[in-house]
Amino acid sequence: MTCEIAVLRGDGIGPEVIESALSVLGACVPVRLREGLVGGAAIDATGDPLPPETVALCKQSDGVLLGAVGGPRWDGAPARPEAGLLRLRRALGLYANLRPSRYMGLPTPLREGVARQADIMIVRELSGGVYFAEPRGITPTEAFNTWRQTAAEVERVAHVAFRLARGRRGKVTSVDKANVLETSRLWRQVVSRIGQEYPDVVLEHRYVDAASFELIASPHRFDVVLTENLFGDILSDEAGLLAGSLGLLPSASLGDGPALYEPVHGTAPALVGRGVANPTGAILSVGMMLEHTLGRPDLARAVERAAIATLREVRTPDIGGTARASEFTAAILHNLSWPRWDDDVDGDESASEWAV
Ligand code: NAD
Ligand code: IPM
Ligand code: MN
Repeated sequence: MTCEIAVLRGDGIGPEVIESALSVLGACVPVRLREGLVGGAAIDATGDPLPPETVALCKQSDGVLLGAVGGPRWDGAPARPEAGLLRLRRALGLYANLRPSRYMGLPTPLREGVARQADIMIVRELSGGVYFAEPRGITPTEAFNTWRQTAAEVERVAHVAFRLARGRRGKVTSVDKANVLETSRLWRQVVSRIGQEYPDVVLEHRYVDAASFELIASPHRFDVVLTENLFGDILSDEAGLLAGSLGLLPSASLGDGPALYEPVHGTAPALVGRGVANPTGAILSVGMMLEHTLGRPDLARAVERAAIATLREVRTPDIGGTARASEFTAAILHNLSWPRWDDDVDGDESASEWAV
């Protein structure tokens, strides 16, 4: 049966990177694509960053591929594009956001010996925390948000992280701010309790400030990083340094229904329309879709390997090259058809895979 994929291109470079990602998806499996509006594009067309038709479309689909939302045009407007993405995550009941980052043989600001050892999977809790809780508000003289976390939210995402660690190097680092926040104290208690069900997985706890330092200073210490919504948002952009660019990072957001796949980066306003936005994050998000929604881990591995082989020679400006996105996309499609996978990132066949 042909799978149905909802495609929400969004704003800024979103449509550009999605175009590349769709050509890779189309080269892998037959799928039926149906387009919907989200973010600023949806505000312009309907006044609403997440029109009801888009929610219905996503719920009826097997999976969702999204570009990015937002941009200066809508900053300060009463309806924000970003609210559309947050409401979509809620509407689909997405609670586990998988954001892998690893060394890909590219230049990074880290010393080569340090960067080489980087291979982490951030598991970001996506349904709770300060993003969604009420009350929240702003007046000219005061603003406030509520940070709320339930034990049930922590439990379900912790299980995802421990299961992922079992298929990787067997370690979970839970990141919180339990020395200050009650929400983090509950987080730590629940993660410790769930951890007892996984005696084969090593569990450690870190405060977020120290963890953000260690992520760059000694990335080899980390395997699966389990953390709450806001910390995960921040740490996952930082993890872009391990790969070499924010434009390289994919993500999968999982719940109990259709999953959502999107690059970690935003709409990169300065790059819009120039044809140089790196499409790798969106393409690797298709890789994660092949694995988690389309049941084709073999093709997911093929996409990852083709991406890494292509990045050796064809690089967009964010990773020090001069290639256009269209050249990168053509090269990765060529490498998918005529694989040259012997030149993997380290020449090391045992190197762990991008996704799990
Ligand atoms: P950004 O991720 O758009 O850009 C940060 C930096 O990374 C910029 O220097 C940008 O040029 C670079 N970059 C990002 N993606 C790239 C790519 N594919 N190739 C090459 N370089 C890339 O973050 P920002 O500038 O803080 O935000 C811009 C807008 O995007 C804001 O409106 C923000 O709310 C939105 N945003 C959306 C999402 C999303 O939809 N998931 C994520 C983050 C930010
Ligand atoms: C991300 C983005 C979103 C987030 C914004 C656009 C709502 O930064 O997906 O990383 O904060 O989750
Ligand atoms: Mn972010």
